[in-house]
Amino acid sequence: MIRFENVSKRLGGKVVLDEIDYEIRANETFVIVGASGAGKSVSLKHMVRLLTPDQGRVLIGDDCVSTARGTKLDEIRNRFGFLFQGAALMQWLNVADNIGLPLRMKTDLSDEEIDKRVREKLEMVNLGDAFEKHPGELSGGMRKRVGLARAIINDPEIILYDEPTSGLDPVTSRTIDRLIDRLRTELGVTSVVVTHDLHSALAIGSRIAMLHDGKIVEVSPPEEFVKSQNKFVQGFLEAQYITTKGDWEDGNRS
Ligand SMILES: Nc1ncnc2c1ncn2[C@@H]1O[C@H](COP(=O)(O)OP(=O)(O)OP(=O)(O)O)[C@@H](O)[C@H]1O
Ligand SMILES: [Mg+2]
Repeated sequence: MIRFENVSKRLGGKVVLDEIDYEIRANETFVIVGASGAGKSVSLKHMVRLLTPDQGRVLIGDDCVSTARGTKLDEIRNRFGFLFQGAALMQWLNVADNIGLPLRMKTDLSDEEIDKRVREKLEMVNLGDAFEKHPGELSGGMRKRVGLARAIINDPEIILYDEPTSGLDPVTSRTIDRLIDRLRTELGVTSVVVTHDLHSALAIGSRIAMLHDGKIVEVSPPEEFVKSQNKFVQGFLEAQYITTKGDWEDGNRS
C-alpha cells in the first residue's frame, strides 16, 4: 500500500532518513515510534509529498508520490487524511468551518451537505456540541479531536496521525485509540500513527516500527515488539516502564 524504497533525506545538514525500506500494508495500523528528532514526522511528510526524498522513492499503491505532478499528485493526496502534530486549526474559523474547509475547497457540495457531513464526523469524535465553537474555546483534547474530524472529512483511504494522543489525559487518549481502531475495522482505512505513547502503540498497532538514527531498527507486531532484543527498542520500552516481562503481556491490551 505505502512503500518506502531506499529513501534517504538530509535536512539541516543532518541525514534524517538513511536508506529506509519498508512497506505498510492495506488496512493495517502501522505505528512509528522513536526519539524526538528521529524523523517520524519527516517520514509522514514523504507520504504526501510535503517532502521529497534525496534518493529513493515512496509508492502509494502503484503510484510514485515522490515524482507525481499536477492532477496526479492531487489525486494521490486526496486518498489521505492527515492529523498534524498540534492539530493545526485555524483560530479565526469556527469548528464547523475548520472541518468543512477541505470540502469547500475541493468539491462543489452545497453548504447543507457540507454541514451534514461535518456533523456526522463531529459525532464520530464525540464532539457533537462543538459545531459553532472556536478553537480558542476548546481544550487540547477537543482540538485534537476536531483535527481528527477534519482529517476524515473526505473519507480517506489512508490516515496519517502525527502524535494523536500527545498532551491528552489517559482517558481521552484511550478514546482516540478506540476511534483509530474503529476507523480501521468499520471503514477499512489504512492508518499510520506516529506516537510516543507506548500504551497506544501496543493497543492499536498491527505492527510497530522503531526509527533510530535514520534507520528502521525494528518492525514487528506488538507481541514481538515487547520482546525485541534490539537495544534501542529495549531502551524505549524501559523508558516507559515496560520490560519484556511486563504488564502488557498479562492481558492489559485495551
Ligand atoms: N523543514 C526542515 N528543515 C530543516 N530540518 C528539518 C526540517 N524538518 C525536520 N527537520 C529536522 O529533521 C529531524 C527530524 O525531524 P522530525 O520532525 O521528523 O522529528 P520527529 O521524529 O517527528 O520528532 P518529534 O517526536 O519531536 O516530533 C530533526 O532534526 C529536525 O530538526
Ligand atoms: Mg514529529
